[in-house]
Amino acid sequence: MYNDNPTIEDVKKELRTDHNIPLGEERQGEVLELSANQESSKKFYIESYGCQMNFSDTEIVASVLSDDGFSSTRNMEESDLILINTCSIREKAEDTVRKRLRIFNKVKEQKPELIVGVLGCMAERLKKKFLEEEKIVDIVVGPDAYRDLPILVAGAEDGNKGVNVFLSREETYADISPLRLGSNGVSAFISIMRGCDNMCSFCVVPFTRGRERSRDAFSIVAEAQDLFDRGYREVTLLGQNVDSYKWLNPETEKPVSFAELIEMVALVSPDLRVRFSTSHPKDMTDYVLHTMAKYENICNYIHLPVQSGNSRVLKLMNRTYDRVWYKERVESIYRIIPDCAISSDIIAGFCTETEEEHQDTLSMIEWAGYSMSYMFFYSERPGTLAAKKFEDDIPLDTKKRRITEIVNLQNQMSLIHNQKDIGKIFKVLIEGNSKKSTQDFKGRNSQNKMLIFPKQDGLEPGDYVNVRVNSVSSATLKGEIV
Ligand code: SAH
Ligand code: SF4
Ligand code: F3S
Repeated sequence: MYNDNPTIEDVKKELRTDHNIPLGEERQGEVLELSANQESSKKFYIESYGCQMNFSDTEIVASVLSDDGFSSTRNMEESDLILINTCSIREKAEDTVRKRLRIFNKVKEQKPELIVGVLGCMAERLKKKFLEEEKIVDIVVGPDAYRDLPILVAGAEDGNKGVNVFLSREETYADISPLRLGSNGVSAFISIMRGCDNMCSFCVVPFTRGRERSRDAFSIVAEAQDLFDRGYREVTLLGQNVDSYKWLNPETEKPVSFAELIEMVALVSPDLRVRFSTSHPKDMTDYVLHTMAKYENICNYIHLPVQSGNSRVLKLMNRTYDRVWYKERVESIYRIIPDCAISSDIIAGFCTETEEEHQDTLSMIEWAGYSMSYMFFYSERPGTLAAKKFEDDIPLDTKKRRITEIVNLQNQMSLIHNQKDIGKIFKVLIEGNSKKSTQDFKGRNSQNKMLIFPKQDGLEPGDYVNVRVNSVSSATLKGEIV
């Protein structure tokens, strides 16, 4: 996941262990299985990498394939179709995918009729070049072309390799009901928009995901209602820049803003928690903050990536805000929602970053008081503005040293943040057994912190309980039900 930086792997692992995974974090090869249609003959095996958006897309893919008569398997040897949903965000993410293809190749040697498909951002980035570079691949499908999967698979069964990497301006898969793979039955992700119209100079996402478009607000609310009726108690609304959500209601001919959308979802039930990711500092409005403050079930947690604490670097990154603007946004959050937790994404060693500018990032981490951060060192991506315009001139050693300093500081700050919670009582949504002991439950508070506490009779995942915090580490809070 963070193997970009093996020296600090352990610290990072601890940092991320029990938190929601925001859009930007690469998740490694999770294999997902669904229980529907198990008796059907054709089977697919799917691995997902990258951000939550990609994992959400995997649930769309599963739905499309299930309608086409496929069932899923966790065992690649017994599958007829192997799919890998890929990420391009950093070089390391793409290396991982190529390594997995080597493994799939071994399976295919034993079973030549096996079809291998590459989906997602790396498919979009490399397009038909993928078929030339990786002989084992039969189909290449971009993020907006999943409806075409049955046709591409059928073509491959007839021996025709296929590519569909068409990027749409409209596709939101609004009418496809995602198959909730590997779900805990309590929390689910809902994709509210696709693509990204920002052009952060380091970022490949606008090229792999295309233009930004927002999904029909009523279909989002209907999905939230359906999840609630099925026992889910938390939804996370997903988009690369949720604050620029804008959907034109054809009946009223008025646009629905993000603030209005979270209110509509919050009104599904006071017992349905609403979260979202990712907020962009340039677009996050006080209207959203006031709406969060108004509804107890909209969680007091904002993932507000800063990327760098220095205004010159932010300008080179084309983030379109500066240090002063970012600080004002953070101050507004703490003013309007005093107990809100804020987390961040940070890039160390961007082109031309000086030691002093790196210090600005450190001081921002301290000043903003992030509860946690996802931290990366810069990885040049082909085709991005930065790759075209700037030299990737910070030596790897320097990048690694800077990221280590950032991680160490964030780790300290997370611990301090958590220590302030000792003695407090939080409303916690039970998600399931703790990883370490079946005697303990785990669940999150509104601030998105994971709490571990001993079970009590009569309680089950999906219930809310009040938990008093007794002890903390930098990653988790431990407590007891009161
Ligand atoms: N839309 C979100 C983030 C999407 S990408 C946002 O704007 O905040 C997730 C994170 O990956 C980014 O926030 C950034 O910190 C990191 N990232 C993106 N491109 C990168 C690159 N080329 N090198 C290193 N980290 C990168
Ligand atoms: Fe990438 Fe910037 Fe869009 Fe986030 S907002 S996905 S970092 S271009
Ligand atoms: Fe997500 Fe990676 Fe694509 S972070 S949008 S899967 S490049």
